[in-house]
Amino acid sequence: MRSSVKELPAIFLSDIYKSFGSNENKVEALKNINLEIAKGEFMALCGPSGSGKSTLLNTLSGIDKPSSGTVIFLNKMLNDLQADELAAIRSKHLGFIFQFFNLLPVLNVFDNVFYPLVLNGHFSPKEARERTLHFLDSVGLAQLTDRKPGQLSGGQQQRVAIARALAHEPQVVVADEPTGNLDMAMGEAILDLLMTINQQTRTTFIISTHSTQLKDRAQRVIEIKDGELAYDSAR
Ligand SMILES: Nc1ncnc2c1ncn2[C@@H]1O[C@H](COP(=O)(O)OP(=O)(O)OP(=O)(O)O)[C@@H](O)[C@H]1O
Ligand SMILES: [Mg+2]
Repeated sequence: MRSSVKELPAIFLSDIYKSFGSNENKVEALKNINLEIAKGEFMALCGPSGSGKSTLLNTLSGIDKPSSGTVIFLNKMLNDLQADELAAIRSKHLGFIFQFFNLLPVLNVFDNVFYPLVLNGHFSPKEARERTLHFLDSVGLAQLTDRKPGQLSGGQQQRVAIARALAHEPQVVVADEPTGNLDMAMGEAILDLLMTINQQTRTTFIISTHSTQLKDRAQRVIEIKDGELAYDSAR
């Protein structure tokens, strides 16, 4: 039976401002952002270089705090939380694919995915191992598990970061240009993977991108210009 109660959004942003630096060096990276992202949404975030995409993704996922405004992530108001509470929410419910991967250079491919799973405390070593192998296989890296990040191409490193972000099956996946280093065919394959996960599990996806492939297939597209929301296909 369909519930008449409106489901709470995955993410709610109200009057978000974010600036870096001060005085003459001050940069207003986000201005007056109001945004609601529904659970299960597959959203593309577009905008020119320097427009504030990474800043917005970091802010809505609790990696970075806004200068002012309210962030609600899965019904939790992030503003008042301490660093350890934020970290606990992120490790359980968020998968973040960083623009520059953030892989640990001393660990091989397998361990880059495996250790975060074990350390977040929700999986036994056996389950973490199975998940690691499954998700590395999903991104086409089953043969490269022993390599260190420095022995991989940019696109291969990007796919390790994708496997790591998906392996704990978080409710929200935030991806900062996740296909930026991939060729058309690999970009399409990764997009298929993300969309399949979205449809099968109602995972919320928020993806910054310059790719027309991704924009064309996303359920919702928003655009940010000079730190302001300039377009929203849902409005
Ligand atoms: N840590 C920081 N300190 C100072 N300024 C910053 C910092 N991070 C971002 N900025 C500035 O904030 C603005 C938005 O940057 P952001 O990285 O969010 O852009 P972007 O849309 O992700 O760009 P790109 O497409 O190149 O990744 C830019 O003017 C940038 O120079
Ligand atoms: Mg960026």
